[in-house]
Amino acid sequence: MATYSPPPGTADIFEAEAREWRGIERIGADVFGRYGYGELRTPIFEYTEVFQRGLGGETEVVQKEMYTFEDRGGRSLTLRPEGTAGVMRALSGTDVMNGVEQRVRYFGPMFRGERPAAGRRRQFHQIGVENVGRCAPLIDAECIAMLAAFLREIGLGDFVLDINTRGALDDRGPAEELLRNYFSQHIGQMCDDCKTRLERNIWRILDCKQESCCKIIADAPDYIASFSEASRTYFDEVRRALDALKVPYRVNPRLVRGLDYYVHTVFEVTHPALGPQTAVAGGGRYELFLPGEKRPVPGVGFAAGVERLLLVRDALNIKFEEPAGPAAYLVGLGLGARLANLALADQLRAAGIPVELELEERSFKAQLRSANKSGAALAIVRGDSELEKNIAIIKNMSDGEQTEISADAIIDYLQQRS
Ligand code: HAM
Repeated sequence: MATYSPPPGTADIFEAEAREWRGIERIGADVFGRYGYGELRTPIFEYTEVFQRGLGGETEVVQKEMYTFEDRGGRSLTLRPEGTAGVMRALSGTDVMNGVEQRVRYFGPMFRGERPAAGRRRQFHQIGVENVGRCAPLIDAECIAMLAAFLREIGLGDFVLDINTRGALDDRGPAEELLRNYFSQHIGQMCDDCKTRLERNIWRILDCKQESCCKIIADAPDYIASFSEASRTYFDEVRRALDALKVPYRVNPRLVRGLDYYVHTVFEVTHPALGPQTAVAGGGRYELFLPGEKRPVPGVGFAAGVERLLLVRDALNIKFEEPAGPAAYLVGLGLGARLANLALADQLRAAGIPVELELEERSFKAQLRSANKSGAALAIVRGDSELEKNIAIIKNMSDGEQTEISADAIIDYLQQRS
């Protein structure tokens, strides 16, 4: 742990942890690749309007959490708080507008000015996908099933999946009226945030976690019944497809999600190891307006929080396999031997054999200690007399047994063992 800490809500990731990150990314690329998703890398910052328009001006992320700054040219830029809006901006140059499907996956840092806590960071990382250009219940179900497959392959098979429907955009008005009529009668007993939400974004009341609000929310009217027949059929088909795919889920009418772009299917995943309040992944179907377009583009996707996936893996005590130590540790006594070892290490590494060596003048004992610590199976020892005879001593680190070998045979010897 560095004594000079990074800013709150950010973290340094050292090798042992980075190995876990690479494992998650590798499995994601593999699973999503099987479903036809190719990688898209978008910039870490975008014009602020990409997120303002994309996520909706009334969302908490846009109102309170964005890292926005002006560049030297006076342009307003924002560090991306999520991946979807940037992906859609990037796809605006493709033919998604003409109903051509694009399947993309991404992995990278996102930034939100939230209060840091366990599993809540200001710089966090998402692994996600977007399926853009078409709209059908079975596409949503396939996307959810792919998330389930990914979670299983990284060891989170005991996930809890909540799904819900937000209906079509046209369904919002009647549903909001129903909810407004109900909540305005009870708003006196509800929290201050909900009082503001009643005016600004009534849907967010539904996922308020305050105890006083929960009781009132539990008796809220069934707004889904007010959705059009087509929207309810859409949701039925998503569920039938999930049943056919044997993906376990719960229908949760309180799940609305925090971003404004969602329509129809929304979903969120939690895991018993982190509890019901901490989502490890979330997503849904959305409609987003691309710059200059009058019609929205449909898509469905999700993102999982990498830090949170790793917290679950930690709690379950699962780790990706640690790599074995180097094939050999080169011990050199005297400058001549160290120079010879440096050149030999270069040749071995070029031949694909990982080795470590001592480059400073240190005692034999100290070098053997380092060899031990490195986890190398062998130590290859040379001093002036070995150089003179053009030999090396190979010491087996597990039983201490020593053999002599011609210096010219070292590469072959190690290659045969690997
Ligand atoms: P989101 O629910 O805001 O959705 O974030 C997705 C996931 O990112 C969360 O479930 C959580 O695991 C992780 N996450 C969010 N904020 C933090 C944080 N401060 N610290 C650590 N992890 C965090 C989206 O971002 C949507 N773009 C997902 C999506 C893609 N919907 C459709 N396509």
